[in-house]
Amino acid sequence: MEAWPFVAVVQASHTPTELTDPQQPDNPIVFANEAFLQLTGYGHDEIVGRNCRFLSGPGTDCEVSDQVRTAIEQGRPVSVRLLNYRRDGSSFWNQLHISPIIDEAGIAAYFVGYQHDITRQVEAEQALQQARRELEARLAERERLILEIHHRVRNNLQTIIALLNLEARRGAPPLRRQFALITQRVRVLGSIHEQLENFGQWTAIDFGRHLRETCGALAVLFEDSVAIAVEAEPLLCDIQAAVPLGLIANELIAAQCRHFGNGTAEPATIRVVLRRRQETGVVELTVGPAATGQISWSIDDASQTSDIVDVLVEQIGADLALDPDAGLTVRLTVPADYFAIEPD
Ligand SMILES: Cc1cc2nc3c(=O)[nH]c(=O)nc-3n(C[C@H](O)[C@H](O)[C@H](O)COP(=O)(O)O)c2cc1C
Repeated sequence: MEAWPFVAVVQASHTPTELTDPQQPDNPIVFANEAFLQLTGYGHDEIVGRNCRFLSGPGTDCEVSDQVRTAIEQGRPVSVRLLNYRRDGSSFWNQLHISPIIDEAGIAAYFVGYQHDITRQVEAEQALQQARRELEARLAERERLILEIHHRVRNNLQTIIALLNLEARRGAPPLRRQFALITQRVRVLGSIHEQLENFGQWTAIDFGRHLRETCGALAVLFEDSVAIAVEAEPLLCDIQAAVPLGLIANELIAAQCRHFGNGTAEPATIRVVLRRRQETGVVELTVGPAATGQISWSIDDASQTSDIVDVLVEQIGADLALDPDAGLTVRLTVPADYFAIEPD
């Protein structure tokens, strides 16, 4: 087959293409098609006989040029993305592919180069990267501010606790107990903010962990007249529900501590269980005596249905009832939605 149709095909191609001759000194261009001349802005006579490096300039990455040179020296194909310059000095991103054309003797007789102007694509990628960097910076700033707010809230709550303790010390014992219970409620809030501050989860806390802390603090408050046995799964709880739920749990457990801690010869054990029901996803918190004994007990005793508990239970759409399976135990059922958060 004659060679001319192939030359015509390359000449008519819309892909900028040139041929270089590695047998000549400095591997000069021996042919370039119309698309190459249009892309670069040079005339045919201006480029034939020159090495293609005239397309590179101040913004061309030297490492990429080195890759190209090494590949050519080794006679193997190479694909790179590099910044090139037109005759008028304007730049463009060039997706360059170079292949050796091997003759019968197995020697690279020519090299063919194909250029693609990918300036738009590269600029779009750069704009996207810049936008991502800005977004990340803004998110980091937002997280820093949230952290700062939790820190300040926690400090303020600690100040309130210190003030309450100060007042409590001045009062008579019954008043001190009242103050201690109020202080404990504030401590619940403080502990939630502490978790938010320390565990990098900005919108949720591990409620199981929080519950254990609450029980520990209540055991101290009731001077170990009751033992509290906690079985709590680690469950991430949305901050919207964590505060009301933390307060409800505190009230329910404190009510039972009050009931069982007073006057019993042996320290009673209160069992606190937090678990998620697999079938429905709802979370149950049960609080009740570990051994039932001869105790008369009603929902009012169990939950001390103070206004606080009622309001908070309604606020989070939970349900509070005496456990049908264990008559002396209160069971709080909390909607699944609050626990649907994925860890960061
Ligand atoms: C067929 C062929 C096409 C080439 N096309 C380009 C090109 O479009 N742009 C470019 O910067 N370099 C191109 N080069 C690479 C340069 O000729 C040169 O090898 C590279 O810039 C390394 O420069 P150096 O030899 O001065 O290190 C091409 C090389 C060959 C063999």
